[in-house]
Amino acid sequence: MGGTIVVRGGRPLYGTAQVPAAKNSVLPLLAASLLCAGPVRLRGVPRLSDVESCLALLRAAGCAAGWDGGDVVVSGRAACCRLPAGETARLRASVLFAAPLLAKLGRAETALPGGCRIGARPVDWHLAALERMGARVEQAAQRLLLTAPAGLHGAEIRLPGPSVGATETVLLAGCAARGQTRLQGAAMEPEIVDLARFLNQCGGCVRGAGTAEIVIEGGRPLHGTAYDPMPDRICASTLACAAAAARGWVTVAGCAPGLYAPVLDILEQAGCRVLRSAQSATVGCAGGLRGAGRLVTGGYPALATDAAPLVAAALLTARGQTVIEDRVFEARFGCAGGFAALGAAVRTMRGGRELWIEGAGARPLHGAQMAAGDLRGGAALVVAALAAEGESRIAGCGYIDRGYPALEQMLARLGARICREMPPEAPD
Ligand code: EPZ
Repeated sequence: MGGTIVVRGGRPLYGTAQVPAAKNSVLPLLAASLLCAGPVRLRGVPRLSDVESCLALLRAAGCAAGWDGGDVVVSGRAACCRLPAGETARLRASVLFAAPLLAKLGRAETALPGGCRIGARPVDWHLAALERMGARVEQAAQRLLLTAPAGLHGAEIRLPGPSVGATETVLLAGCAARGQTRLQGAAMEPEIVDLARFLNQCGGCVRGAGTAEIVIEGGRPLHGTAYDPMPDRICASTLACAAAAARGWVTVAGCAPGLYAPVLDILEQAGCRVLRSAQSATVGCAGGLRGAGRLVTGGYPALATDAAPLVAAALLTARGQTVIEDRVFEARFGCAGGFAALGAAVRTMRGGRELWIEGAGARPLHGAQMAAGDLRGGAALVVAALAAEGESRIAGCGYIDRGYPALEQMLARLGARICREMPPEAPD
């Protein structure tokens, strides 16, 4: 969709919002479907541009992949090892398609992945893990050529850091490889657990997902399945932060509060009421908030890096200081310029690793023109604009569409004055 989101802030939010399935689970599941002999149905998938990009990659690989109502269905076998550079450059998750193609066809030709510009984001750990499993990697400019004519074999792998994507690459390669793979230093994010659950439901054998050591018994044939991807904890965090920023009383339904516990805890400490039940959380905020002091992001179960700009947006009008250090990505706070345009007293420190917020307190934010520069930063600008008096315009909403199925409609249903303007269509 793209275009500009227009917000008239200053109105509290009330009601219940349903959390969609997690983008960061659906994308690896789509890559995993390349390993399955029968059809895969993912139920209740949100219409996101990143999902569309993955469907295009699956079709380029020779599969049938498309929508059946709200589900996504993938069938057929991979027949083509070459992925189009344009599509791979659109998103980071395209790197996850390399291991299944390599395992199935002995060769994968792809390009360095794109994705949000929140840091350097190399793929060296993915490639090193695949090399340990028998792959040969050649890199020329932006192109990657991976070959494994004798197939992949199990290996002992230790990741230099708990990378979500590299852990997913090892899970995918390990299931298709001969013998056992033991992965140490694995990421422990719930999306890894979801991928392992999917692979096991298809006949694979992955143990230890959700801990730092994962053991995969490879070589078992994987069949198709129907699967419900986990809920999107970052979308849930977005809705909770929106309730705090705009004030009001919002129930975030369909996502266990434990999946984004740090966000709820921070909002509670800042002065929100938070009511938790098994599959929902209600965030209430009537009066002023307090700054949260020093916050640090990290791998699960710490505060998620993706949630950092959203928490910041909620605390721009708090009384007192909040400092957020992102320990995962170097350039997470590209949204700081937009926050400043709204009148917030913010600055980035330590080369962009830290965002300092001197809470506006009683001083209100005012509407401004801003541009989304990445997915979560863009959503954070929308959340911040809910707290600003007057009209705000957030351009570049194509970034936001990567991870939210019509964010403005989700917020409008809660009472926000928000809409989207599309540029006029060019005449034929
Ligand atoms: C996933 O990205 C998510 N994307 C990101 O969400 C999320 O921010 C991130 O994990 C951290 O939770 C998807 O799941 C599609 P990493 P990923 O590998 O896998 C370094 C969103 O908004 N690293 O865990 O790319 C890397 O530079 C997106 O939904 C290497 O150095 O993240 C980073 O500093 C944005 N070499 C750190 O590890 C590698 O080969 C963690 O990155 C791999 C990673």
